[in-house]
Amino acid sequence: MAPWLELPYEINNVTDEEDKLIKKILIGYSSKFVKCGKHGYVMPGSFKKHAEAIYNMEVRPDDVWVITFPRSGTTWTQELIWLLKNNLDYATAKSIPLYERFPMLELTSKIPDIAFELIKTNFMNLGNFQGLGAAARCPSWKRIENAPSPRFIKTHLPLSLLPPKLLSTAKVVYVGRDPRDVAVSYYYLHKMVAKTLLRSGFPTFWEVFRRDLLPWTPIISHTNEAWMKRHEPNLHFIFYEDMIKDLPTQIRRMCKFLGKEYTEEQIKQLSVHLSFDSLRKNKSVNNTTGDAVNGVQFVRKGEAGGWKTHFDQKMEIQAEEFIIARLRGLDLIYPSFLTEETTHL
Ligand code: A3P
Repeated sequence: MAPWLELPYEINNVTDEEDKLIKKILIGYSSKFVKCGKHGYVMPGSFKKHAEAIYNMEVRPDDVWVITFPRSGTTWTQELIWLLKNNLDYATAKSIPLYERFPMLELTSKIPDIAFELIKTNFMNLGNFQGLGAAARCPSWKRIENAPSPRFIKTHLPLSLLPPKLLSTAKVVYVGRDPRDVAVSYYYLHKMVAKTLLRSGFPTFWEVFRRDLLPWTPIISHTNEAWMKRHEPNLHFIFYEDMIKDLPTQIRRMCKFLGKEYTEEQIKQLSVHLSFDSLRKNKSVNNTTGDAVNGVQFVRKGEAGGWKTHFDQKMEIQAEEFIIARLRGLDLIYPSFLTEETTHL
């Protein structure tokens, strides 16, 4: 067994002002939010209890991990990977929910403190969402630690908070997406999970997002960590926008990365299975019952550039400034940015 490592990064409470701002958006968290590491990744306070165990998790050579900032196309990519690795077993994919086939590492620490006990005792139907009920009863990382191989693991944690041997041991896929589309999609996710847990409209949500105060932010550091390692053989870096543009090409690239071979006919069939309309109807990946919750579905719009309808001109300028400022000094390039859109500066 590998020696237990102490966390090489610090976890500190956010300031009172920041905590107030976060809680202006998110209800249900009684403990203070925290910032982790030099980039200050924001997490609910309960992450402190799990951080060291997650950092010390044993990675297996036959694991496949998907790392994303929330709402970047995680679910889409998970379903793609799972099917490629499981010989296109559509029947099993349909019968077992994706969150069980491909569970989320830090799910337990994301459950709002107020909901935790209620979910645990099956008191809240929120427990049906993405396996929250199971995650309240046993930490999600522990369940994954004890799961049989091959494991498929989803996480929104950035590389620096994950086991240091991850990239030298397992296959890892990172999906990036335009932060503006992510912000809109993230807003609707909160609305969907529990309307009553979200206090604000989109403009306030955006304010807190661009101050890098929502869980798992800062998004650009998150993506840049993976971008810097994109040439490592065990890391496959993709953009949501490229999947939108040409899914079959991305499927072929993924096959190569995972060492799988399929015929063009099979790739065509998989592209149909993974199409927006098909996934939207697919109860196994839609994370709940497949019906809209609070008028929003998990697989929601599926567009690149849809953010434009949610930003007024002032917000659009702010967004450009936000992205330009965070990209300064990095060589990360978003395919949807620094093109025709940077018209205001
Ligand atoms: P929107 O809310 O912009 O529609 P995640 O799985 O990381 O939470 O990402 C969710 C986002 O991926 C949602 O974005 C969702 O609609 C989109 N998505 C899921 N399946 C998709 C598909 N087959 N085609 C296009 N977008 C998809």
